[in-house]
Amino acid sequence: MDYEKFIQEQITHIKNTVGGEKAINALSGGVDSSVVTVLGHRALGEQLRTVFVDNALMREGEPEHVVKIFADLGIPVELIDARQEFISALAGLTDPEQKRQAITDTFYAKVFSRLVRQSKAKFLLHGTILTDIEETVAGIKRQHNILAQLGIDPQKTYGYKVIEPLKTLRKDDVREVARLAALPEHLCKRIPFPGPALATRIVGEVTPERIETVRAATSIVEEELADSGAFQYLAVLLNDCATGIRDNKREFGQIIVLRCIESTDARTATVTPLSWDKLNRISEKITRITGVNRCLYDLTPKPPATVEYI
Ligand code: XMP
Repeated sequence: MDYEKFIQEQITHIKNTVGGEKAINALSGGVDSSVVTVLGHRALGEQLRTVFVDNALMREGEPEHVVKIFADLGIPVELIDARQEFISALAGLTDPEQKRQAITDTFYAKVFSRLVRQSKAKFLLHGTILTDIEETVAGIKRQHNILAQLGIDPQKTYGYKVIEPLKTLRKDDVREVARLAALPEHLCKRIPFPGPALATRIVGEVTPERIETVRAATSIVEEELADSGAFQYLAVLLNDCATGIRDNKREFGQIIVLRCIESTDARTATVTPLSWDKLNRISEKITRITGVNRCLYDLTPKPPATVEYI
């Protein structure tokens, strides 16, 4: 594939489609939305408003970190604090698809449509990739960024048209485009992180306390496995508790699952054979988190499991 040509074609397509109107895009800091942000700014300059929506579900320090990376590239990104809206929408929900739906609705119908109205944007640039579309159409999982393929007309429902410059690419292609688009290498190589963020790693209700727990575990896992070369690694908070001992007292504590996989495009995956030393070290650190007294390693490939837990 000629990536240089692809970039030029997409820049032209975005320019021609948007014309003299305004466009908006949401940056998550993942490689897909980062590439869209760069292509969009090259095509549209100040006609494009890029926002980072803090949905309360991001990893430690992530909102500030992402804004800084793009500021260094000369691309302004606005940080939008929507934490309370997402927390309220998720309160009381335990069903995985209802949780995903609540996040989609809060993002598109509430937060994003408000931003679109404010900025009078007629177009939304979106980081959808081919795998997202295929899995949604196949009914495997409703990816949170798929609209048209589910029969939702964004123009009618939310008041804007969607442009999806990456919808013919798979993840490995997107990384190549990211490199050519001069994105920093650590960003091109960033492990995938889902749109619904840490909510995909909390089984049961998503509360601020439970987000804190999985966020702390995520920091440990990402730090310990940064040099593992694995495709993706994550921490999951289960809905069950288990008996343990802390400070010589019985504790009915929480359970964190460590997941680390090898894959090329996340459609299938095998489990990384991490060393026993590494597993023990991670387990020790994770069980120091308040209220967590067990750490398990997930040995399941995809299929039959998926990568995320909801
Ligand atoms: P699953 O859990 O479906 O994940 O095996 C496959 C890959 O996709 C990521 N993932 C998502 N990415 N929005 C995204 O942008 C989503 O809703 C979503 N759900 C899963 C997941 O991290 C893995 O890399």
